[in-house]
Parts: sequence; structure tokens; C-alpha cells
Amino acid sequence: MVDPILKWAGGKRSLIPDILALLPANYRNKNYHEPFIGGGAIFFKIRPRSGSINDINHRLMNFYKVVRDKPDELISLTKTYIHEKDTFYKLRERFNEPNLSDLEDASLLLYLNKTAFNGLYRVNSKGKFNVPFGRYKNPKIVPERRIRATSNILKNIDILCTDFSYIVDYSQQGDIVYFDPPYQPVSQTANFTSYSSGGFDINDQIRLRDTCLQLDNKGVQFVLSNSYIEEILNLYQEIERFNTKIVQAKRAISSKASTRGPINEILVTNIAPSNKKIYSYKLSDTFARAKRGKIMPSFIRNININEKSRNDLRKAVIEELLKEQPGTGKREKKSHYTYYVEKLSNGNKIFLTRPAFNKMGFDFVIHVENMRFSNNKDNPSHKDIFNDLKKKKSASLDKYQILYNAINDVYNCVDPDIVLKNIGNLTFNVGYDVEMILKVIKWFFIEQDIRYWNYSGRHMFKEGVDKI
Ligand SMILES: C[S@@+](CC[C@H](N)C(=O)[O-])C[C@H]1O[C@@H](n2cnc3c(N)ncnc32)[C@H](O)[C@@H]1O
Repeated sequence: MVDPILKWAGGKRSLIPDILALLPANYRNKNYHEPFIGGGAIFFKIRPRSGSINDINHRLMNFYKVVRDKPDELISLTKTYIHEKDTFYKLRERFNEPNLSDLEDASLLLYLNKTAFNGLYRVNSKGKFNVPFGRYKNPKIVPERRIRATSNILKNIDILCTDFSYIVDYSQQGDIVYFDPPYQPVSQTANFTSYSSGGFDINDQIRLRDTCLQLDNKGVQFVLSNSYIEEILNLYQEIERFNTKIVQAKRAISSKASTRGPINEILVTNIAPSNKKIYSYKLSDTFARAKRGKIMPSFIRNININEKSRNDLRKAVIEELLKEQPGTGKREKKSHYTYYVEKLSNGNKIFLTRPAFNKMGFDFVIHVENMRFSNNKDNPSHKDIFNDLKKKKSASLDKYQILYNAINDVYNCVDPDIVLKNIGNLTFNVGYDVEMILKVIKWFFIEQDIRYWNYSGRHMFKEGVDKI
């Protein structure tokens, strides 16, 4: 996953798990389109290999083109702008002049997005950008790494700037489309229907519903998020082939603190439930009795873990381990049993053991059969994994980016087998095998889902990965 470069009203970051859960398992192998791209939270999470992005805001779409085609120039030019009130207003005026070059236009958009009040994009009736200075202490105006990663993701993506209805002719059977139209006002004061000059009214909502019907007839799969209000719900609920679901989202931008809390949204899709991938961790079905081994009870095997209940899985595993006495003596480092949790395609298994001492402060040890890590044993340390990832990163930044995104997916509780299917055959000419790495990392994440250590926490291992 790459975090979006721009902050955008209506950003869908908080809905990522709900939306991914609706997509078919092989979504990364399909053409994927976003006709209302905005900041693109879902798009940059998915990192599709082909497809299109679109928005009616031409300056936004110019921005993405410049990111794709001229990332270095964009970075250098934007670095020349300083964060200071007078400069902000001068640059805002410049942004409102006609005939800027594509590069300058994109660079000013980036600067204003990082420095204007709340990161808003708002124009007046004449189409002039009019958001005031934002008083951020030390905003990161040029997220270099993100710009480069985004540029790579956009390499095979068509960038359009038109009305969302282009998608009917543009898409092909089997493609996936995600629609995130502007909010329909839920109250009189909700006024974010004007992202660009010209609003999005109920007639546009009806056109959008009809577009969904046309896509459905063509065999295109879609997911749509929209405001949870009666008028909208009625448009979709009457169509039998569409499923609707109510979810809670966090507003990405609202100028008033009082309206920044969670709001209800609806998700609509024509993707049949049987096509939905399992968005969960589960203990693999490949448990087997170890030499001196013990099989995890089936109730643990069958727990489907989503982000909220990953802790339950961890708890269930720990409870099972606690039935054993911990080792006591110096040499007795192994627990009495091995607990198989994953099988690798080379036949070797990953298993857990209980640590020798209760008070060692961690709850299980992860082993990989027939492997030797830096301690000359079969249990990897965090450092082993980090060093391996570093090697991979210097061997190929592009491939590492794919692996990093895959690790993020695992962090977000997508089962490694599903992640592996999505990334295809990813091999590096250095270090450990990708399958083994991802499956070990899954167990590090589970082990790290710790609430009671004040010096640790579920992010500990993830932070290590992020720093690489
Ligand atoms: C809710 S925002 C999308 C937010 C985005 N999903 C994100 O994560 O940041 C809606 C976007 O639709 C665009 N828009 C408004 N009317 C449109 C139209 N008729 N066709 C295409 N895009 C439109 C707006 O410019 C705005 O960027």
C-alpha cells in the first residue's frame, strides 16, 4: 500500500477493510477503475496493474499525470516553495492565474494541499481556489518516497478527466469499478458537494445508479460507497441484484470539529457473496501432529480473524500453550509440544512453541522446519527478517515495494495465501523465499498484538518494517 499523496475531502481510508472484503479474491489480476479518484485511498491501497482513474477536477488529474510522468521535476520544483504565510498567498494567487505549465500547476496544487487550511480543495463560483493559510507547524510538503511509489503505480494506468459515465464504454466484462461520488448533504450545513465548481445533485445520483445498472448488464463488477440517506438507499435497494450494506466511516475532512465524528455510509455491490474472498486470518488447515507434537484444537483453527478479532486468535493460541508447563532449566529451551500452524509449498511447516520461561515476556516462539537463521537455529528473530527485507530492498526497489504492500495486507489481516495469489510469482535473487517470509511475518504480527506491555504494542514489528 502507498498512502495517498493528497488529502482529499471524502477520503475513504477508514473504509478500506470493508471495501476490500467485497472484492473478488483475484482482484489484482483484473482491470480496475476509479471514476471519482479524489485522493485515491482505495486505489493506492489496491495498486492495480491496469485500469483507469478519473475525476472531473482537471487540476487534480493533471497532478496525477505529472506524478506519473515527471516525478523528479515535481519534487525539485515543489521543494523551492517555503511554508510561510505571505508566500502561501502569493503562490495561491499564482495558482489562480491562467496558462500555468502542467508542472507548475501540479507543484502548486501539492504545495497548497499541504499548507492550506485542513488540506481542503475549494474553489469559488469563478473557479478560483480560495482556501486560507493553514497554520500547520511543520508540514511535510514534498513526500518524496510516496511521489516516486505513486509514479510507479500509475505507469500502466489511464488518467482521464471527464464525467464518471465514461466508464460504461470504457470498461470490459470482468473489470472492477469502485465509485466514490461526492457526499450527498446529510444536513443543511454539510456543503462538500462542491469539490470542483458545479455540484453533484440527486440527478447525478440517479445517473450514477443507472451507470451501475449498465455495468451490471455488461458483466462488470462494481462497488460503490455513498452517503447513508434515504433518497440514496432507495435508489439501490429496489434492485434485486445489488447488495447494500451499512458501514461506519470516519470523515477525512470537515472544517468543524463537531462534524468530524464517524458517519454511516452505504456500500453497494453487484459482486455475489460467493465470489467474495475471505478477508481473514485463519490458522491454516494443514495442522498435523508433530513428532512429540500436538494439534491445535479445531476451535482455534476455525476462528476467522479480522482486524478486531486478531487478538482473539492470539488469546486462543496462548490459552492452548498455557496448558503446558513452561520449561524450567537452562537447557530445556523447548516446549513439550510443537504446534503446526502453516505449511509451505516446499512441504516444510511453520510451528510454534511455548518459550522456556514464562517471564521472558513473549508468548510463543516461531520456528520454520529445516531452516537455519542467524542463531543457527530454526527460529527467526525480528532482526533476521528486517535484515532480509533490507537485502531485498537494495536488490530491487520495485519488487520490494510489492513485497512491502503485501506485508501491509498481512498486517491488515489478509491471509498470506490470498496475498500470495494476488502478487503472483515474486522472487528475489537474495534472501529468504517470499512465501516463508510472509507467513512468518503473519505470526510476528499475531505475537505482537499485545496490549499489556507498555513498551511494546501491536505496531512494534510493523514499525521495524516501515523503517526499512
Ligand atoms: C468523495 S470524492 C472521492 C474521494 C476519494 N475516494 C478519496 O479516497 O480521496 C468525490 C470526487 O468526485 C469528483 N467528481 C464530482 N463530480 C464528478 C463527476 N460528474 N464525474 C467524475 N468525478 C466527479 C470530485 O471532484 C471529487 O474529487
